[in-house]
Parts: sequence; C-alpha cells; structure tokens
Amino acid sequence: MSQRKILVTGALPYANGDIHLGHIMEAIQTDIWVRLQKMRGHQCIYVCADDAHGTAIMLSAESQGITPEELIERVNREHRRDYDGFLIGFDNFYTTHSEENRELSESIYLALERNGHIARRNIRQLFDPEKNLFLADRYITGACPRCKAEGQYGDNCEVCGSTHSPSELINPKSALSGATPVEKESEHFFFTVSAFTEMLRNWIRGGAVHEAVANKLDEWLEEGLQDWDISRDAPYFGFEIPGHPGKYFYVWLDAPIGYMASFLDYCKREGLDFDAWWRPGRDHELYHFIGKDIVNFHTLFWPAMLESAGYRTPDAVFVHGFLTVDGTKMSKSRGTFINAETYLKHLNPEYLRYYLAAKLGPGVDDLDLNLEDFAQRVNSDLVGKLVNIASRCAGFIGKNFDGMLAGAVDNEALLEEIRKASAEIADLFEQREYGKAVRRIMALADKANQYLNERKPWEIAKSDRKSPELQQICTTGINAFRLLAGYLKPVLPAMAADAEEFLAIDPLAWNDFDSLLLDHRINRFKPLMTRIEPAAVQAMIEESRQSWNSGQDDTEAAPAPEAIEEIAAEIDIGTFAKIDLRVARVIEASLVEGADKLLRLRLDLGVNAAGEPVERTVFAGIRTAYKPEQLTDKLLVVVANLKPRKMKFGISEGMILAAGPGGKEIWLLHPDTGAKPGMRIS
Ligand code: 2FM
Ligand code: ZN
Repeated sequence: MSQRKILVTGALPYANGDIHLGHIMEAIQTDIWVRLQKMRGHQCIYVCADDAHGTAIMLSAESQGITPEELIERVNREHRRDYDGFLIGFDNFYTTHSEENRELSESIYLALERNGHIARRNIRQLFDPEKNLFLADRYITGACPRCKAEGQYGDNCEVCGSTHSPSELINPKSALSGATPVEKESEHFFFTVSAFTEMLRNWIRGGAVHEAVANKLDEWLEEGLQDWDISRDAPYFGFEIPGHPGKYFYVWLDAPIGYMASFLDYCKREGLDFDAWWRPGRDHELYHFIGKDIVNFHTLFWPAMLESAGYRTPDAVFVHGFLTVDGTKMSKSRGTFINAETYLKHLNPEYLRYYLAAKLGPGVDDLDLNLEDFAQRVNSDLVGKLVNIASRCAGFIGKNFDGMLAGAVDNEALLEEIRKASAEIADLFEQREYGKAVRRIMALADKANQYLNERKPWEIAKSDRKSPELQQICTTGINAFRLLAGYLKPVLPAMAADAEEFLAIDPLAWNDFDSLLLDHRINRFKPLMTRIEPAAVQAMIEESRQSWNSGQDDTEAAPAPEAIEEIAAEIDIGTFAKIDLRVARVIEASLVEGADKLLRLRLDLGVNAAGEPVERTVFAGIRTAYKPEQLTDKLLVVVANLKPRKMKFGISEGMILAAGPGGKEIWLLHPDTGAKPGMRIS
C-alpha cells in the first residue's frame, strides 16, 4: 500500500475550562485512529489547539483579575498536561490566539468578502449599559413570560420549557452587572452560507458524514440556510475584522481556522508544504473528529468557508455522541463530572482508553461509562486474559531457559490464525469500529488462553523443567501475546511499550505481524497491568464530588443551583394522615404496549388480617429510567389507598413514589433493608 498523507484534527477545547472525560473520550477516539495510521506506515499528522477567544474567556479572565492572555497561557499548560496524561499523541497542540491564526482568519475573511459572501446589516440586541457590552442570551436573566418562573436564562425556560427571545423576559437583568439591559442597534457581518447549498449537498452525498448526520443535514438544507452572524462588537477577546475597528470575528469563525493555524505552525517547524495539504486537487486527506453538538459549524459553515476561500473541503467529519456516566449526563453533584486531572490521580489512563475503545463505534450514539462494568471489563479482559497469556509463559522462559525463546513453536495453527486476523483488525480500526476490533482481539486472546489451559505448561514443568516441549509451548504463548499486544497498541500504547521492552524488540509496526519471534532472548517479566480496585474508582468519584461542592473550580463560574418546582398549597396533618403509604415489593414489572413511558407493576403488599395476599397493579411512568427486569423484587413506597383509576391500558390501583426530573433520572424511594411488604410508613 502506498503511503497516505493524512491530516487529523480534534475539536478545540475552550481555554476557560478544565479538560473532562467528555473531551478525553473524543481525544482517545481520535488518537487510536491516528496511532493505527502511523503503525501502518502512513504519514498522519494530528493537530489540536485551545479555542481561546470569545466573551466567556474575556469575562473569566476579568473575574480572576488577570489578562485573557495570562488565562489562556495557564490553561494551555494544564490542557497539554491532561491530554499528555491520557497518552494523546498530538503532533501539535497550539492556540487560536496566534499570529498564524490571525493571518489565516483575515485572509479567509477577505476572500469571502471579495467573493460577495459577506453581507452587512444592523441588528438590535440587548446591551448592558454598565458593562458597556452586548449581551449574549446566556448573560440575560429574568422571569419566564409564560410561567413567570424567576431566574430564567436567555431564550428558554427550564421550568415550563417554553422558548422565547431574551427581550421577552419579564424584568430582564444582565447576569454580569445586574443592570437592566437596553436594546441597542449595531452593524453585524454575515456569511451568506445559503450560496453554498448545492455545494454542501454534493459534499454530504460524497460520504463526508455518517448517514445519521447526513439525514439531519438534509433537513437543515431543506429548511434553507440562514445567513450566519460572524461579527461581535467590542469589547471582545479575539481578532479585529480588518478595516473595521471595533468589530471582531465571532469566536466560531476563527476556531476551525485554528486547525489550519496549528498545522501551519507545525509545517514551519517541520518544513512541510502547507498548501499541499490545504489546497484542492492533491491526494492529501483531511478528517475532523467532533461531537454531535457542533455539527452545524463543521458541516455547513466550515466547508462553505473553505470552498469560498479556495481551500479544499474535509474528506470526512467523524461525529461522536456524548459521554454519559452510569447512564446519565455527567453530574457535578453526583461526582460523575470527572476532570481528566482527577481521573489521573486515581486510575491508569489505559483503563479508560481500553474501556472506551471496547464500546466505541462509528455512529453518533452516546457512550456510557458504567463504572461497575468499567472495572469488571478491564480486569477481566486486560488483566485476566491478555496479560495472563504472557504471565503464564514468561516465568518458565525466564527461569528455565535463561530468557530464550525456542526456535520453533508448538502450535503453528493458533499463531497463524491470530496473524491472519491482522488485516481485518486494521480495517475495523480504520472504519472506527473499535468495539468490533477489540472483541475480535479478545476472542483471539480467549483462544490463546484455552490453548494454554489444554497444554498446561505448569504440569510439564513439574516433571521436566527444561523440556523442549515446555519451551515451545511457552514460545507459542509469548508469540500470541506479542501479536495481541501489537493489535491493541493503538489503544494501549504504554502497555505496548512495556511489552516491547519485555520482549526486547523494536517498536511494533503493523507489518511486523507477518513474522514470529524465535530464538530470541526476552527480558524479565514485570506485571504489565494491575487490576482496577473499586476503591480507587470510589475515591475518584468522591474527589470529583467534593471539588465541585467546595468550589475549587476557579476557572468556571459555579453553576446556579437548579430551581425546584414551586411547593404546593399547605395541607393539615389530618389530610396527610389519610394517605396510607406502604412498603411494596415488585412481583413483576412489564412493558405496556402503546405507552412508551409506562410500566405495569404487580405489587406485593404483604398479607391482610385473614392471611390473604394483598396485591395491587399500578401503572407507573418510569419506563425511561428502568427496565422491567431491574425492578423485580425491589422494594418501593406506594400510596395504597388511592382510589383506583381507569387508564387507557387498565385500572391503576395506587401510585408509587419517585423523584427526579424525568428521563433516565427517576429515583424510586425504597426503604432500607429490613422493610417488609405491607409495612406502613409513618
Ligand atoms: O464546542 C467547543 O468546545 C468548541 N471550543 C469547539 C471548537 S472546534 C473548532 F471548530 F475549533
Ligand atoms: Zn416558563
């Protein structure tokens, strides 16, 4: 295969926040792909940078009493440290606040302007008369025009869900100064992206995005593209628009250009020809890895800007979903909003690299980090299967054969089978089917272990510790390990490096998998990976929870506590006493056909005075949070004397108690162990 020239980018993290596991998931996905390309001998360059501009960064610096430049420099160091900790092998990690980016942004903007793709018109916006700046929606609070809930931000109400314009808020205030904003007019610059509708259609049809993304984009194109507002008024931290003092490029204009700027910085250092990679018509490849929340910027505005300015468009934009932890959005109060730095204090980065790889695919589905499954899977696959192969053989080779592998193997067929899988595994990685690749590798690891179970080198060693058969069996095992650790090298680069050192070999490349390691002296075996201790996971969660509670995070404004729903009108104790709350055990839970939120619960409420079982059927709207089988035998609290209600699907004989905002977050209030069905709650 001829050498490909591939430029890869990861989304640029904002320079005013810490790197968290959501960022890390994307970086791991990208890094695995890049490492695979490099192992296959391609020229693959991976660039990233901090996204350093915008109002948020300006205000964050101000609140810390430092300049934006000081802030972004400090954060840049922290970001590099965190990505490094997760073994992300950027070829360049830069910043959008660079001269390269200024020059590229100016020249691209001027090209758009020359080509008639910039429109200018006045718009009216809310303005903070004290801070003297225009307020983005998220900096305006007020009461919801519909439900009157106080403290609602910008353009939607978190209580009733209505959408509105910030100027419709009742009694609006600037979240920055508390002043009442005034409406003010100013001239803005727009990129007339609709001129590129046909070009974008073709680009999308050419396979630049996953089908699910293409369908969404088709909808947007069908609705018609609106002009995109690319300017912001001073004060703003960013680049001034050439020829227009006081007008700045909106951060999202120069952010993707930051990919080019980071690459340009790399080209200057490494002596590469920038234009060969960025002008059309060459056989260089360009890929962006991004999250699904920033698809519009990367698949509409960005290719259109590149096209207008005479640059090439990306070959593909690879879009991933969000990272959830234990089934829900990362949450600061639950301790599952985990910063990279916190993770690294407690756990080996390769645990996470492996776990995410085992679950990643090419689609846009969210990926769940289930903490129990995480420990279990890493321990069983990496420690129990992969490393086990080496540790079962290494001791005999070391002690009995002075570290020498045999000149022949005992099971040629097994190694041939593992070797033959190399093309398929490379292809799965290339297609970003990492989960499938990992499963294929682990299935081969199972075979190698099975082989050792059958041949039992430890038994042979008892009777003849220097037997050639023993040496050949262990040589087979060590060779199986070498191939499998090599296949996992894009995922586990540090473990692979330790394996290379143990095997006393040069860094493995993909075409090394054709050969075997024979008549070769290996080094002493040191454990290549230790088990995840559940206590370490707990300690990480606890530290995350505490750091948010104690407000240690000084780079991000503390999130406002969520408003609770208004408390209902008072009732007297007599009324309350009428409610008969009982402990109930779920006998059976089942789906309700035609109702995607409901579960049918058959509940055991103990026995009545006559010794007869008391059962109730209750319909509960908890299907989004629970699978029926999860509920069997769970204890919960039920309102036992609620008048039966006829529902579309049957009669509901009670109501169960639960709390939470809905979706996956519905918690059942079940009593402590020891409670028995039928017990009254008082
Ligand atoms: O959403 C974000 O975190 C942005 N900072 C990503 C920018 S990616 C690129 F366009 F610069
Ligand atoms: Zn409302």
